[in-house]
Amino acid sequence: MQGVIIYKGKYGATQQYSEWLGEKLNLPVIHAANINGEALKKYDFLVIGTSVYIGKLQMESWLRNNLSFIKQKKIFFFQVAATPVEQKKKRQAYNSAGIPKELQPNCDYYYLPGKMTMKDLTWKDKFMLRMGAMLAKSTEEKKTMLTDYDSVATIHIKEILEAVRNHTKN
Ligand SMILES: Cc1cc2nc3c(=O)[nH]c(=O)nc-3n(C[C@H](O)[C@H](O)[C@H](O)COP(=O)(O)O)c2cc1C
Repeated sequence: MQGVIIYKGKYGATQQYSEWLGEKLNLPVIHAANINGEALKKYDFLVIGTSVYIGKLQMESWLRNNLSFIKQKKIFFFQVAATPVEQKKKRQAYNSAGIPKELQPNCDYYYLPGKMTMKDLTWKDKFMLRMGAMLAKSTEEKKTMLTDYDSVATIHIKEILEAVRNHTKN
């Protein structure tokens, strides 16, 4: 059974998780910009990783553009974002809005914590983040949004690792 890890992020969190998964599962790791269409045909299952910006999945347009090539395949879908994983409803809402409806029944979902370093952001992302913080309901939430954090750790890939291993055994 052949699989591949396809991801899109901006500042390294999604890429880091993808690389760890690639090492542990011995699967190729490919940025979404480097694979599409016919090249997907040979794979039986996909591990797809995406981060979230202003409520939008980074992988959204790739999923739409490649729908006809991936709609029959099993997908392990992991989402990396700042919203705490305990806030499942909010995390799920990002996926329901960004993953084409036809694809959703084929997906198993995983929610991973991300990281953010203010000084590394483009001026546009910094601006967007400040705008978002202005709209935040509480001072606490405002502060959290503008504070650097790094929760990326190997422990968080445990569940997805087990699921993929179970899928591929035999
Ligand atoms: C401008 C900006 C907007 C963001 N919007 C959201 C959002 O809407 N929801 C969320 O949960 N996280 C949001 N995040 C947090 C990122 O998803 C998080 O930092 C993630 O780890 C980024 O992963 P990447 O480096 O792979 O892109 C935002 C971050 C930035 C800088």
